Amino acid sequence: MTPTETEFGPAGHEDLRRRVLAALGSARDRTALLTSCVEDGELIAQHSPLMSPLVWDLAHIGNQEEQWLWRAVAGREALRPEIDSLYDAFEHPRSARPSLPLLAPGEARSYAADVRSRVLDVLAGARFEGRPLLDEAFAFGMIAQHEQQHDETMLITHQLREGPSALTDLPPPDLRSGPLPADVLVPGGPFTMGTSGEPWALDNERPAHVRFVPAFRLDTTPVTNGAYLAFMADGGYTDPRWWRPEGWAQVREHGIAAPLFWHLDGGQWLRRRFGTTEQVPEEEPVVHVSWYEADAYARWAGRRLPTEAEWEKAARHDPVSGRSRRYPWGDADPGPGHANLGQRHLRPAPAGSWPEGASPLGVRQLIGDVWEWTASDFLPYPGFRAFPYKEYSEVFFGPGHKVLRGGSFAVDPVACRGTFRNWDLPVRRQIFAGFRTARDAESV
Ligand code: AVJ
Ligand code: FE
Repeated sequence: MTPTETEFGPAGHEDLRRRVLAALGSARDRTALLTSCVEDGELIAQHSPLMSPLVWDLAHIGNQEEQWLWRAVAGREALRPEIDSLYDAFEHPRSARPSLPLLAPGEARSYAADVRSRVLDVLAGARFEGRPLLDEAFAFGMIAQHEQQHDETMLITHQLREGPSALTDLPPPDLRSGPLPADVLVPGGPFTMGTSGEPWALDNERPAHVRFVPAFRLDTTPVTNGAYLAFMADGGYTDPRWWRPEGWAQVREHGIAAPLFWHLDGGQWLRRRFGTTEQVPEEEPVVHVSWYEADAYARWAGRRLPTEAEWEKAARHDPVSGRSRRYPWGDADPGPGHANLGQRHLRPAPAGSWPEGASPLGVRQLIGDVWEWTASDFLPYPGFRAFPYKEYSEVFFGPGHKVLRGGSFAVDPVACRGTFRNWDLPVRRQIFAGFRTARDAESV
């Protein structure tokens, strides 16, 4: 039997309109929260050279929405053509953005609100058919995802910012149940990777295609702080045997000896998390490690990072039907019991949580909690076509970027699927990234 993808039925116009309204609305609520909980002066400030000032993200969100929904979808004139280049991510690197003549916080808010009210008028009369941008309301879904992606970026800026947290911090529930096996065997065979039918999937997730994945073993949960501390205690950061040369160079040059935001205090490892200093909790997935750190840990443990195809097969393949599903738990949209998503909690839940979100083989926390570094470079799938613009994915393809999968506690469900692909440079540590490990299965 050829592995197939989930089947999708066409959604009605009114149903789509409601879904778009909800997705745009919840993105804007989050944007408003992240940009209203600090003084305007802090919106203009640059909290890290790795990040834009928050006020840049705010106006960039409005500008992308204007370009795709007001101009491209509705065919209307630019509202403020003179600001386009300020908010073009390719014209100005993040470190240079504070010195641009950016819209002031009040102007940025009213610009984004003006675009939004025009877009809601467009939405009220839209028919979701006839053009690729309109089919299944794709451009609206893309813009909701874009805003949520910047909401994750802005949460990273909040984490990098000095001073007490401006955000409410609700601890995740501890839903661990019974002892879990350390890893599971994923049998070898073909599965369908990527998607052709998921309406709001972005260009790099397409098209669906069959991959053969040999048998392998995959960790049941992400690697915990406790396990990572064992690597540190065993001299993990001082032994070049475990490291790729570029990773070893980064460790030496920057004196790296622990995940970002950790420090040693009287023999105790503490971490700073959204303005609070606290003990490193051993049961939580490790977060704020680079690809090089993840790769070194895995080598030290006698294992390796999973490939992107292995990760997706573990997350989507249903061994009973042979189909690839949308999520580890099936085709249903993520609910609050499935995964730690949507900035409900500002930290990952303990490893082994979310039993309702487990895959058929019992793998936990593939979706939510922490992004997971994979061994793979960010490359196009066979048959890839850039849509609707090359600068979303295509310009980043190549060996320089590593793929991350699964989403973090900071990712909204609208921008998270079993097929969703994120990518970053292997040196990056400020993102909410951890990992799990894998190994080849013994041949029998
Ligand atoms: C997919 C997270 C790598 O933030 O650079 C936002 C998402 N693209 N605006 C990024 C994105 C354009 C992108 N990542
Ligand atoms: Fe963007």
